[in-house]
Amino acid sequence: MSASLPDPDELFRDHLDYQLARYAEALEACGHDALLIAAGEPGHHFLDDIEVSFKPNPHFRLFVPMPAVAGSSLLLRPGRRPVLLHYRPEDYWHLPPAPAAGSWTESFEIHEVGSQEEQQRAQDAALAGVNHLAVIAPGSQAPEPLLCRLDFGRARKTAYEIACMRLANVRAARGHRAARDAFFAGASEFAIHLAYLAATEHEDADLPYGNIIALDDHGAVLHYQHRERRAPPGGSRSFLIDAGASARGYAADVTRTYSAAAGAFADLITAMDAAQQQLVAEVRAGVDFVDLHRAAHHAVASVLRDADLAVGSPEALVETGVTAGFLPHGLGHLIGVQTHDVGGRMQDAQGSVRLPPEAFPALRLTRTLEPDFVVTIEPGLYFIPMLLDELRSRPEGRAVAWDAVDALRPYGGIRIEDDVRVTGSGSENLTRPALAAEGIA
Ligand code: GLY
Ligand code: MN
Ligand code: MN
Repeated sequence: MSASLPDPDELFRDHLDYQLARYAEALEACGHDALLIAAGEPGHHFLDDIEVSFKPNPHFRLFVPMPAVAGSSLLLRPGRRPVLLHYRPEDYWHLPPAPAAGSWTESFEIHEVGSQEEQQRAQDAALAGVNHLAVIAPGSQAPEPLLCRLDFGRARKTAYEIACMRLANVRAARGHRAARDAFFAGASEFAIHLAYLAATEHEDADLPYGNIIALDDHGAVLHYQHRERRAPPGGSRSFLIDAGASARGYAADVTRTYSAAAGAFADLITAMDAAQQQLVAEVRAGVDFVDLHRAAHHAVASVLRDADLAVGSPEALVETGVTAGFLPHGLGHLIGVQTHDVGGRMQDAQGSVRLPPEAFPALRLTRTLEPDFVVTIEPGLYFIPMLLDELRSRPEGRAVAWDAVDALRPYGGIRIEDDVRVTGSGSENLTRPALAAEGIA
């Protein structure tokens, strides 16, 4: 399917012009005449000279689509071409990055710098005449009003960014197919993870976030971070995979859940998948994401009731906190150059924040949706011992059919997650077509 997708290269120029105008406006509003954006450098383990894996400053990534950028910096002066100081140290310990190449470079003034001294000289020359410089660099305090303006505006994605996320989803879908096949072949979490990496041609460090590869009750750990080296003796019951991919630094964030056999858990997956698609169908400009999150809780209430796991009206099951015992995380978040993109709770460019309702403290996104926001829609239904035990101890817990729920604990939980672009009249699902091309619903 990738052959028919828009080529990000053809869209980059418009993206760059849009971002330059957006940054220039923010700089002017905040009284700065230039901005220095440092990509950052890898840190080291404590008392060690071994580097930890590195992700560049997202403000840098927004402008510069090449992979090896540690130590580089970008200078923005409104009205002028952006200046990229590409750090390529001479080094016989490491392979220095290749020179910047590709059509995107035509829009930049690029200086290849071989040492920090050279970098400083080039930077000083580029900043001649600047009086009010702002800096966004790891380890330095960026001006808050400037960051607020930039973060708030980041929610609306350009055609280039959306094209990158489509490609990231295509890549993730290849991994999901390999992982699903490995699960049904009886593989361990570790082997499934390796199959995913091979199929996506990603190393761990390339992933936008650590893969969640959870067999059986590990699916009840929301951010399960281990990979058992051995498959469960006697075979696995269930598999929750939350695994993404990157394209030019843009993320895909995708979750699917599988049952090894037909039965109550498989039926719940089918019901949650239908609920997730219904929620995606409600995504459009003008929708308050808090309302959509509430709708997700009503959907989970209906799923619980239809599966004879709880009794009562969906309204009552939500209001009394029963659904919160099964779904403790938010319905979704903004996604882009960061998996959890910034600004999800901002209400304006001045930085006003809208906290989620008290009943849903984990909700990361409280904004009203606008065209070209890209959000995840990821309802879940889990059997988390800590939360179930707490719910059982409360009078509201009497609404739950505990025998049936306890029988499902060994299956862990269900999450279905797609990346969805908001349009004026509805939405575009960036994930489902990519998965469908790999034979995954
Ligand atoms: N993979 C983390 C999340 O879904 O937000
Ligand atoms: Mn997510
Ligand atoms: Mn996820």
